[in-house]
Amino acid sequence: MRALILAGGFGTRLRPLSCTRPKLMFPIANRPLLDWVLERLSKSGVTRVVLAVNYMADVLRENFGKSKYGLEIVYSLEKKPLGTGGPIKMAEKFLGDTDEPFFVLNGDILSSMDYSELLAAHTSHKADATLALHEVDDPSRFGVVEMNGNEQILRFVEKPKKEEAPSKLVNAGVYVLNHTVFDLIPSDRKVSIEREVFPVLAGSGGLYGHKFNGVWIDIGKPSDYIQANKIVLDEIASEKPFLGKGAKVRSRVKIIPPVAIGSGAIIEDDVCIGPYVSIGNDVTVGKGSRIQDSVIYSKAWIDKFSSIKGAIIGEGAIIGSWVKVEEQCIVGDHAVINDNVTLTQKVQICPSKEVDASIFEPSTVM
Ligand code: GTP
Repeated sequence: MRALILAGGFGTRLRPLSCTRPKLMFPIANRPLLDWVLERLSKSGVTRVVLAVNYMADVLRENFGKSKYGLEIVYSLEKKPLGTGGPIKMAEKFLGDTDEPFFVLNGDILSSMDYSELLAAHTSHKADATLALHEVDDPSRFGVVEMNGNEQILRFVEKPKKEEAPSKLVNAGVYVLNHTVFDLIPSDRKVSIEREVFPVLAGSGGLYGHKFNGVWIDIGKPSDYIQANKIVLDEIASEKPFLGKGAKVRSRVKIIPPVAIGSGAIIEDDVCIGPYVSIGNDVTVGKGSRIQDSVIYSKAWIDKFSSIKGAIIGEGAIIGSWVKVEEQCIVGDHAVINDNVTLTQKVQICPSKEVDASIFEPSTVM
């Protein structure tokens, strides 16, 4: 079985973190998002993965190479972004030499889905395409389906107003497609599979859906990303901290699980970490600092008596002493926040910027 992963988006809603890495490299409990996805595909019997890449393709190629978790990895590089449908057509040469259906995944979905169950539903319905569906409270951000009792999708509406949504079942960003679908996708241009292909398939009766329960999160915005970290931390570190090799945690440190601390990290005395904190490799946290509900990328340096709450601190960023970084703030890679500065409410600091004065209102320092 083969799978195509859409991995070429710009991740604009996750700037400034996505200015310096593709979204699939974002760490979730200290492992890139793509590692979590590939591992699950491998366990479901997939043997070849095509990564449809565009933005920062080289970073993905360097990190994942030609195989991982027993999967063969092939790269399908777009010269310009082809959206969510164009990359499928472009990868026909890597997927089209057998009659087997194949999986397509949005690479920015973290889920506990059993892919083989989706394939079984696809086969039993003799569908052209089968979408994994998930129930959400507010479907207005997603593609929403109207389905009959036989799991056949009668209507597919992309991002409807909440009151106009035909159900709460949304496209979970994972599909099984037959080869016939290649003929519905135009070549060499940007195509939205959600807007241009699924409505056509629904009209011809070949589109089915299969609801699954369990973990599902679409990592679009910073709050989704923090939430994805929380979900994984609950799974891997709910009782005791997940400590990487060579992490040094001094004796007077208080850890409130779930917490993951990467290899080579140094946590000094009187620090309090948790709950829901991922600390990347080779991070230093100075004496008396406090971190909760946050993601700290590798090689960041947090000096003494600082407080980080509900924030994301980029790779190699330097946080001075007596600094406060609060709810939904993002400090870009290698940015410097000088001593005594406070950042609150969605302040975003672009990579390598230096900040000397406090900022109390949502804004972006470029
Ligand atoms: P935003 O810019 O914040 O909307 O993020 P995004 O670029 O990731 O877009 P979106 O969340 O809609 O993308 C869903 C999935 O499709 C992600 O895994 C993207 O990497 C992927 N994707 C989006 N556009 C393209 C594209 O043009 N080419 C490829 N290969 N993948 C894409």
